[in-house]
Amino acid sequence: MLKRGCLLSSTMEKIVAKLLVGNWKMNGVKLALQEADLIAAAAKTALGQSIQLAICPPATLLARLSEATAGTGLLTGAQDCHAKASGAHTGDISAAMVKDAGGHFVIVGHSERRADHGESSEMVRNKAQAALEAGLVPIVCVGETRAEREAGQAEAIVLSQVEGSVPETFPDGGLVIAYEPVWAIGTGLVPSAADVLAMHQAVHESLVSRFGAKGASIQILYGGSVNGQNAGDLLHLAHVDGALVGGASLTADGFLKILHAIQE
Ligand code: PGA
Repeated sequence: MLKRGCLLSSTMEKIVAKLLVGNWKMNGVKLALQEADLIAAAAKTALGQSIQLAICPPATLLARLSEATAGTGLLTGAQDCHAKASGAHTGDISAAMVKDAGGHFVIVGHSERRADHGESSEMVRNKAQAALEAGLVPIVCVGETRAEREAGQAEAIVLSQVEGSVPETFPDGGLVIAYEPVWAIGTGLVPSAADVLAMHQAVHESLVSRFGAKGASIQILYGGSVNGQNAGDLLHLAHVDGALVGGASLTADGFLKILHAIQE
């Protein structure tokens, strides 16, 4: 049973109790759609329990995945978008293109993009703004490195990323944050429950102090080595409103184990 239920009540409340988003990163060709079909088959039941499932495949698969899963309850999204609406930006995709391809979400500011593409919080904020203007829900990623945590700076870094990356205005329920410690991504390492709880609490409080009741409605996902074994403990913590899942989302088996862990 979910311990924190808040389905579709007042506009200031969180839209669903839990949100599970698969981030396939640069993995998956057409064959991977079979995994998504299996995930989609579980999406309606999950939704009935106030758990929203979503997959963010590589951009090449987004339109196909959105078409294949339309009406199933499984939502889709992209892993990045450009801050500009159109123009001479070879290789990039705009938020409107993501929307046109059937996307509902777009991940912005993932630590791999911050590291590999030098994305600053200001750039991430501009991407989130572009996503909002296109009618998408941005999933704004933040998280500290191992060195920052060891130096006792984790909370300060994360809160400054939140401050710098989240745009000033967004619709109720129209923006999601993912706290992903960089050192936990793809490593099998997970912070202690106490550390996750403390960070989610701190992010929640900073959002409430900046945006008031609307800030309280922002869902805060945890990401970094989430799997079927640890999801039950992590996702029942206060202010952990779901998960952004990399490796374990690549197979239906791995992703649905996470779903089952939080349904218990
Ligand atoms: P992971 O990735 O679950 O493979 O650690 C999470 C993410 O980077 O979103």
